[in-house]
Amino acid sequence: MATLQLGILVSGTGSNLQAILDATAAGQLDARVRVVVSNKPEALALSRAERAGVPCAVLPHKTFPDRRSFDLALVETLRRHGVELVVLAGFMRVLSADFLDAFPRRVLNIHPALLPSFPGVDAQGQALEHGVRITGCTVHFVDSGTDTGPIVAQTAVTVLHDDTRDSLAARILVQEHRTLVRALQWIAEGRVEVVQGPQGGRPRVTVHGVEAGLLPEAP
Ligand code: GRF
Repeated sequence: MATLQLGILVSGTGSNLQAILDATAAGQLDARVRVVVSNKPEALALSRAERAGVPCAVLPHKTFPDRRSFDLALVETLRRHGVELVVLAGFMRVLSADFLDAFPRRVLNIHPALLPSFPGVDAQGQALEHGVRITGCTVHFVDSGTDTGPIVAQTAVTVLHDDTRDSLAARILVQEHRTLVRALQWIAEGRVEVVQGPQGGRPRVTVHGVEAGLLPEAP
């Protein structure tokens, strides 16, 4: 089993990045974070990477003339560091085909809802607004749509009657961390295959050798 060479794109707090760093340090995830790239110079995630001795790059998107030149700079940075799988861990920019074509089926995202419910921004607020009793998080490969790519792993989170957006987001975040690490370890173990759906339907993920259904909520 070869060690997964990861590049992590961040914009903010970086708690998902921290979960990956902790899991690799603890020997629970057979991966190495080669570089962390932020589009925000002030992102707290950068100090987490520095503390772990991981190289960082800051590419402020506003300093690029257009989306294409920003995306190509991202690709160049990730390639220069030997990245084979890219994780969007709270990265608040939409990636174009210029980027996705450089890492086909090698870009993973964590989303704070049970997709295909509540894609896009403020998934936790959407869940409260709809009054759902169960929401959760999803790890999926990124395609050209908004949170539409093949699903790798999901964890359910119960919505409590007195939940606020923040209390719900905090409980989902705990589950994001373990779901993301678990999905990455499945990929590291070579268990994850993207297959075509029946009758030319949308691509979906098969996870070989483990029960990869909805993961139960756990502390
Ligand atoms: C997470 O809720 C993630 O699902 C969303 O942005 C948040 C990032 O959190 N896309 P963090 O920066 O990993 O702490």
